[in-house]
Amino acid sequence: MAEKALEVYTKGSEAWFPDEKEGWVMGKLTTRVIADDAVKLGFHIDSLGKDVIVETTKTKLNDTKAADLPPLQNPPALDGIDDLAFLSYLHEPAVLHNIRLRYLQQNIYTYSGIVLIAMNPFAKVPLYGQDVMREYSGKRREELEPHLFAVAEEAYRSMIQDKKNQSIIVSGESGAGKTQSARYIMRYFATVESAGASSGESEVERSVLATNPIMEAFGNSKTTRNDNSSRFGKYMEILFSTPTEKNPSVRITGAKIRTYLLERSRLIFQPATERNYHIFYQLCAGAPAAERKDLGLGSWESFFYLNQGGMGTIPGVDDAAEFVETSKALSDVGISLQTQWAIFKICAALLHMGNIKIEAKRDESHIADDDAAMQMATSLLGVDVKEFKKWITKKQIITRSEKIVSNVNQYQAVVGRDSVAKFIYSMLFDWLVKVINVNLAKEGVEDNQRFIGVLDIYGFEHFKKNSFEQFCINYANEKLQQEFNAHVFKLEQEEYVAEKINWSFIDFNDNQPCIDLIEGKLGILDLLDEESRLPSGADQSLITKLYQRFAVPTQKFFEKPRFGQSAFTVKHYATDVVYDIDGFIEKNKDTVSDEQMAVLNSSAFDFLKEVIKIEEPPVSDVASPPRPGRGGASSMKKPTLGSIFKGSLVKLMETIRQTEVHYIRCIKPNMAKTAFTFEPIPVLQQLRACGVLETIRISCAGYPSRTGYEDFADRYYLLVPSNQWSPNPNQLTEAIVKKVINDDDKYQMGLTKVFFRAGQMAFLEKLRTERQRACVIMIQKNVRAAIYRRKYLRMRAAAITIQKHTRGHLARKQYKDMRETRAAIKIQKNVRAWLARKRFNRFRDAAIKIQSTYRMARAQSEAKALRSLRAAIIIQRVYRGYSARKAYKASKARMVLIQSCFRRRIAIKEMKVLKAEARSVGKLKETNYKLEGKVVELSRTLAERNEETARNAEKITHLEDQVRVWKERFEKSDAVNKGAAAKTEEGSAELRNELVAVKADKEKAEKELEKLGVMMKRRDEKIEKLEESAKLLKEELAKAKAEKSVPVMKKEDEEAYMALKKEVVVMREQMARLLAGKYRADRVADSMLAASLSPTDGPATASGSQPYPLENTKSAVNMQIEMDMAAAAAKARPRRHSFGEGAQSPVLEPPPPAATGEMTPRKTRTNMIIDTAFANGGMNSTGPMSAGAGVMLEAERSVRILEEKALEDEIIDALVTNLRIPLPSTQTVATRKEIFFPAHLIGCTIVQMLRNDLATRMLSLMTNVMKAIQNLTMKFEDDYVSAFWLSNCYELLCVVRTTRERERAKARTRPSGETGEAERALDKVLNDLDYLLIEIYHGWIKELKKRLTNMITPAVIENQSLPGYICKQSGGLWGKWGKSSSASQFTIEQLLNFLSKLSKTMRCYYMEDTMTRQILTELLRVVGVSAFNHLLMRKNFCTWKRGVQIQYNVSRLEEWCTSHGIAEATLHLQQLLQAAKLLTLNKTSPQDIETIFDVCFLLNPTQIKKLLSLYYAADFDSPLSPELLKIVASRAVLNEKSDILLLDLEQAPDFVKPASKPVDTIERFVPTWMSLPNITTVVSSAN
Ligand SMILES: Nc1ncnc2c1ncn2[C@@H]1O[C@H](COP(=O)(O)OP(=O)(O)O)[C@@H](O)[C@H]1O
Ligand SMILES: [Mg+2]
Repeated sequence: MAEKALEVYTKGSEAWFPDEKEGWVMGKLTTRVIADDAVKLGFHIDSLGKDVIVETTKTKLNDTKAADLPPLQNPPALDGIDDLAFLSYLHEPAVLHNIRLRYLQQNIYTYSGIVLIAMNPFAKVPLYGQDVMREYSGKRREELEPHLFAVAEEAYRSMIQDKKNQSIIVSGESGAGKTQSARYIMRYFATVESAGASSGESEVERSVLATNPIMEAFGNSKTTRNDNSSRFGKYMEILFSTPTEKNPSVRITGAKIRTYLLERSRLIFQPATERNYHIFYQLCAGAPAAERKDLGLGSWESFFYLNQGGMGTIPGVDDAAEFVETSKALSDVGISLQTQWAIFKICAALLHMGNIKIEAKRDESHIADDDAAMQMATSLLGVDVKEFKKWITKKQIITRSEKIVSNVNQYQAVVGRDSVAKFIYSMLFDWLVKVINVNLAKEGVEDNQRFIGVLDIYGFEHFKKNSFEQFCINYANEKLQQEFNAHVFKLEQEEYVAEKINWSFIDFNDNQPCIDLIEGKLGILDLLDEESRLPSGADQSLITKLYQRFAVPTQKFFEKPRFGQSAFTVKHYATDVVYDIDGFIEKNKDTVSDEQMAVLNSSAFDFLKEVIKIEEPPVSDVASPPRPGRGGASSMKKPTLGSIFKGSLVKLMETIRQTEVHYIRCIKPNMAKTAFTFEPIPVLQQLRACGVLETIRISCAGYPSRTGYEDFADRYYLLVPSNQWSPNPNQLTEAIVKKVINDDDKYQMGLTKVFFRAGQMAFLEKLRTERQRACVIMIQKNVRAAIYRRKYLRMRAAAITIQKHTRGHLARKQYKDMRETRAAIKIQKNVRAWLARKRFNRFRDAAIKIQSTYRMARAQSEAKALRSLRAAIIIQRVYRGYSARKAYKASKARMVLIQSCFRRRIAIKEMKVLKAEARSVGKLKETNYKLEGKVVELSRTLAERNEETARNAEKITHLEDQVRVWKERFEKSDAVNKGAAAKTEEGSAELRNELVAVKADKEKAEKELEKLGVMMKRRDEKIEKLEESAKLLKEELAKAKAEKSVPVMKKEDEEAYMALKKEVVVMREQMARLLAGKYRADRVADSMLAASLSPTDGPATASGSQPYPLENTKSAVNMQIEMDMAAAAAKARPRRHSFGEGAQSPVLEPPPPAATGEMTPRKTRTNMIIDTAFANGGMNSTGPMSAGAGVMLEAERSVRILEEKALEDEIIDALVTNLRIPLPSTQTVATRKEIFFPAHLIGCTIVQMLRNDLATRMLSLMTNVMKAIQNLTMKFEDDYVSAFWLSNCYELLCVVRTTRERERAKARTRPSGETGEAERALDKVLNDLDYLLIEIYHGWIKELKKRLTNMITPAVIENQSLPGYICKQSGGLWGKWGKSSSASQFTIEQLLNFLSKLSKTMRCYYMEDTMTRQILTELLRVVGVSAFNHLLMRKNFCTWKRGVQIQYNVSRLEEWCTSHGIAEATLHLQQLLQAAKLLTLNKTSPQDIETIFDVCFLLNPTQIKKLLSLYYAADFDSPLSPELLKIVASRAVLNEKSDILLLDLEQAPDFVKPASKPVDTIERFVPTWMSLPNITTVVSSAN
C-alpha cells in the first residue's frame, strides 16, 4: 500500500503544499530516500525559494492511507481543463490551480461535474450576445465551452424532452454574480425560442424580464461587497407553454416569484459606505418636482435612514435614470402610475418616520408634538398623529384582569418606531411580489405546466460577527448542500448501476445531523421560538439553554466557545461558524405591537391597508405559518421569523426535489472587485463553502475517473507491448489495466467505461508520459548514434585523406632529395670527366706537335729529292709529245683531200634527180587551189541565181501590176483616143507613133507576162506535185497508224455502257427524291416556306400576282434544292413533261403525292408553333388578309374567353398550382421556352387583355396568379419549385415591363387622354411582381439556409478529409460524456454537392446570373459565418490538426467558388480561413503573436484571444504559455470598440434585383403534354 502510494513520488514529481498567502504552492521533489520503514522526501518550492522535507514511515502511511503525503500535481495535459471532474488528482490544490489558470486565461466558466463554476470577471465580457445564445441553442452541453447558456439550454431541453420541471440553483457569496447570472439565464429563456419566431420578445417575456429591475430596486442595495447586492433570496419559476404536436417549441407564458428573508434591518441601519435599498435613493434623485414637494422629499442626506452609511451614490449609476427604469418596469408588470405613486408615498413616509426625533426624558421617551417628520409621515400614511405618537412612546401589557399602559424608554421607543417602519417595508415588498405574481400568471396556469425555477440565493456566509441572519442563511445553505450532495451521490450511484460495476456504498460526510441540530425537534430553532414566545425571553437565557442541550460530547456539530457566554459554534459543512447570540430573540420575533398594528389598520390610506393586510394562508399550506404582526389574542402563537423561514425553506426543498436540478456556483475571485484578479485564499473559502470540494470528496470515495473503452485504449495502448494490441478496445483496456495497475480495487470495468480510483489516471498518464519519454529517448538514442556514426565516419575518412596527402608530401620530398643527390653526383662525374679529358687532350696535343715537327723535317728533305726527279720527267715528256704530233698532222691533211674529191662527184649526181622531182609537186598544188576557187564561185552564183528568181518573181508581180496599170491607162487612153480620134481625126503622127510604141511595149510586156505565167504554172505544178507526195506520205502514215490502233468497239461493251448510264440516271432520281424529303423537313422548320409549297397554297402563290413576302428570304440553297426536286419529279414522270417545261417552271411543280401525304399532319402541328413578330403590325398584317371571317370569329371567341373566369382558373390551376415543373435532368436540357412558357403564356394573356381593354380584369387576374405563385413557393416542398418560379417571375416581370414600355410608346403616339388604365394596371402589376420576386427570393434563401445550417458544422468544421491529420473526434482528453457527434453525418463533399445541385438547378431554369450569384454568395456567407462562430465556441477542439483540416475544407469551398465563377464569394470564407490558419501558426514567442495578428488581419483581437484561449495543445504540442495569453489579452483590451466575438449571421445583404432585360418576342409555346384549351385559344388569337 505504502509502496504503491510512494511509487508516483519520483524525482521531478510536483506536489502541493499549503501556504498562507497563496493557499497552495507547488514544490518539486528533489530528494527521495526510502530506507526500510522510514520515508524522507525533499521538495523544493520555487516560488518561495525554500525546501520542505516530508518525513514519515511506511507504517504510518499504511495507517493513514497515505494521507500525509503532499497532494500531487496533475499531469500537464490536464492543465486548464474545462471540467474539473476529469482531473485525475481531485483535491483542493488541483481544483484551485485549474480554476485559477482558466480565470487568468479569461475563461470564467468551468464545469465541475454537474456544477458550473462561474468566476465573476468584474468586466464586460463578450459572452452574452444574441449570437452566443444562438450558438448555444440546441447544442449539447459537452459540445461547447462551459457557459451559463449551456446549463440553461440543458435545463430547457430536459424540460421539453423529459417533461420534467427544472431548477437552476445559483449560489455564491454576495457579489459573486448570482443575480447577474440569473438575469442572463432568464434572458436566455426569453430570447432563445423567440429567436426562431420573428415576433421578438413577447409581452409576457418582457414582463418576466421587467421583474428584475423592480425586485432589484426594492430588494437590492449597495454593500461593501457588491454595489448591487440582493438582500433577499429569490426563486423564480418561469412557466412555459406545453409543447403540442403542432407547435413543438415552447414559449414563456408566465412566471412565479418566491422571495426569502428580505434583510429588514437594512431599512433602519446601514454600515459605513453601504446604502439602504436603491428605491429610496432613486426616489430622492428622480422624483419630479411636484411629487417631490407632495412627498416632502429632499436629498438623501436629509434622511436618517439613508445617511448612516455616508455614501448616497454609486459610481457609474445614475439614480434618477434608474428611477425612470424602475417606474417603467412597474408599468411593464401592470402596475398603474397611480399605484406606483402610492408605493412611493409609503416609501417617503418611511423615510420621514426615520427622521422622527425621540428624546429621552428621564426613563421615558418623548416626541415633540410639532415634530415635522412625524407630521409628514403620519399624513402620508393617513394615520392619526396622536395615536401614532402614543403607541410609539407607550406600550400596553395585558394581564389576565386588566390592560396596563406604561411608558417605554427612549431605546425601546426607537426600536418600536423602527419595527413599524421595517414591518411596513417588508409588507410592501411582499405586496409587490404578490402583485407581480398575479400579473405574471395572467395567461392562466395550465395543468401540469412546466417550469424552470431559478434560485438566486445568498451563499454560505461567515463573518467576524455572525448573527441571526447568517444563521438563517447558513441553515438554508446547509439544506441546499444536503440536497446537492444527495443529487450528486444519486447521479454517481446511477452511473455505477448503469455501468453494472461492483461498488460498495461509501460513507460521505452527511450533514443531516447538522440540519437536525438546527431544525429538528427541540433543535436550535425550536428553542429559539420557545424562548421568543416567553415574555421574559432573553438572549442570555437562550444561550444557556443551548449550552445545556447541545454542549454534550454526542453532539458533534455544536460547540461551546472556550471563553465567554454569548456565542455558540455550529460546525457547518463548509466551515465552523461562531454565532453571536445578541439580538437573536429580537430579530426572531420582529413584530410590531398590536396597538401599533391597530393604528396602521385604521389608516385612511387605502393602499396602505391593502399592503399590510394579511391573507389567511391556504389551508393546505401547513408548513408556512401565518405572518407575524397579527393582532388580537393569537399573539402568543405569533409565528417567528425563524419558523417562517424554516417553513418556506421546507417548501422550497420540496419544490426543488420534484425538479431536476442544475447547479451554478458563483465565485468572487477577489474582494476588490477588480477585473481578472485572482485571490486564492478567498476563492478557496468559497470553493469549500459552495460544496464543490465536498462533491469532489464524494466522487473520490468511489471511482472518480472514468473513461470510455475506446478513448482509453486509444490513449494508453502504448503501455502494453504491440503483440497485445487487439482491435477490441475492451480487451485492450483489460490488458492495459491488468498489466499496469494490477490491483482489483483500483479499477472497475463497466459496460462502456472503465472506472478508476482517484489518482489512477494520473498514474497512467505518468506511465504514458514515461513510456513516451522512453520511446523518445530510444529514438533520440538511435538518431544520435546514427548522427555520431556518420560524423565519425566522415572524420575517419578525413583523417585518412590527410594522412594520404601528408605521406605523399613526405615521399615526394624524399624523392626530391634523392634526385638532387644523384644529380649532384652526375654533375661531379661529368665535371671530373671534363677536367680529365682536358688534361689528357693537352698532353696528347703536345705529343702530336712534337711528332709532327719531327715528321715535317723528314718529309721536307724527301720532297726536295722528289721534285728534282719530277722536273726531269717533265722535260722528257714534252719533247716526246712534240715529235709525235708533228708526224700525225702531216698524214691527216693528205687523207682529207682524197675524201672531199670523191664526195663532190656523188653530190652532183644526186642534185640533178632532186631538181626534177621538185618541179612536178608544185603543179599539183596549183590545180588544187584553182579547183577550190571554182567551187566557191559556183556556190556564189547559185545563191545569186536564187536571188534573181526571187527578184524575177517580184518583178513579175510588179510587171503584172504595171500591165494592169498600163491596161487601164490604155483603155483610158483608148477611150480618150477614140474620143479624140473622132473629134480630131487628123491626130498627130506623134501620137500614132507613140501608140505604136506603147503597143509594142504592151506586146513585150504581154510576152513577158506569158513567160512569167508559164513559170508560174510550172511552179504550181511543182507545188501540186509536192502536195501529192505529202498526201501520199500522210496516207502511208495513216495506214501505219491504222494498223496499230484499237479495234472497233464491240457490241457487248456498248450494251454495258448503256446499262451503266441507266444506273446513273436511276441514282440521280433517287438523289432527287431524297433531296425532296430533306426539303420537306426544312419546311417544317420554316413554316412559311412549307406553306408556299403545300398543294393548296403552292400554286396560288405562284400564280398570284403579289410576290410572296418571304420568298426573297429563301436561301439560294433552298432554291437549288427546289430545282433538284423538280427535276427529279420530272424524271419520275417523263411521259407527261418535256424537259423544257420542267426547266421553265420548277417551282410550280407540285410535289409528288407521297410527299403531300406526309406533309399534312406535320403542317397541322407546325401551325401551333407560331412565330410572328411581337408587334401589333406583325399580327395585323396576316390577320385580315388571309384569315378573313373565320379569324374574326376566333377573335370574338378569345375575347369572350378573356372575360371568363375559366381562363383565370385555368391559368392558376394548370400553369401555377398543378403545373408539372420540368425537372432538370442530365439527358435532355430544356430550352428556354420550355422553361419560361408559364411566364410567356401569362404575359401573352396580359397583352391580349390589354388589347381588348380589359385592364382591370387583367389586374385581378394577375393578383390572383401572384397569390397562387406565392402560396406555391412558400410551401418549400422542393428547390425546383422555388428556382423555377423565381426564374419565371423574373421573366414575367421582364415581359410585363416590355409590354408597359410598348404601351407607353403607343400612348405617346395617341393624341391625348387615355394614357391611363392599361399603364396604371401594368405599373401595379410590376410593383407586385417586384415584391413577389423579393419574397420568393427571401423565402427560398431562408429555407436553403435552414437546410444548410445542419450541414455546415459537420461538413466544414468536423469533416476530416486529409488522411494524415486525423484527430480524435471527441477532442477532449477523455470524453466522459460519451458519444459526441463522432458519426459526422455530412462531409464537405455533400455540402459541395448540395451547392452544385443548387447551382445546376438554377442554371437549368435559366435563372438570371445576378440572382444565381446572390443566392450562392449568400449561402457561402452563411457557411463562412456559422462555421467561424461555431469554431469560436467549440471546446477541446481547436488543435493544430483541426486547423489543417479546416483549411483544406475551406480551400475546397474556394475551389468550388472559383470553378463556378463566383470567386467573390470566397471573401466570406476568409475569416474562417484565418481562424484555421491561426491554429496552425506557431504560438511560442511574442513574435509569433505578432505574426498571428498580421496574418489574421480580418479577425479582431477579441476573436484572436478567444481562439488562442481555446487552442488545445495535443500530444507533443506545447501548450500556450500564460504570458503569451496575457500579451494577447492586453492587445484585446487596447481595442475596446472591436470586441464583437461572433460574426453576425443575420446581417444578410439586401437582395439586389437584376436589371430587367427587354423581351422581344413572347413565345406562344404550349407544351404538347398540357391541355390548355382556353389559353391556347387566347394565345392563338393573338396573331
Ligand atoms: N458575468 C458577468 N460579467 C460581467 N460582470 C459581472 C458578471 N457577473 C457579475 N458581474 C459583476 O459583479 C457584480 C455583482 O454581481 P451580482 O450578480 O449582483 O452579485 P450577487 O448577486 O452574487 O451578489 C455585478 O454588478 C457586475 O458588475
Ligand atoms: Mg444578488
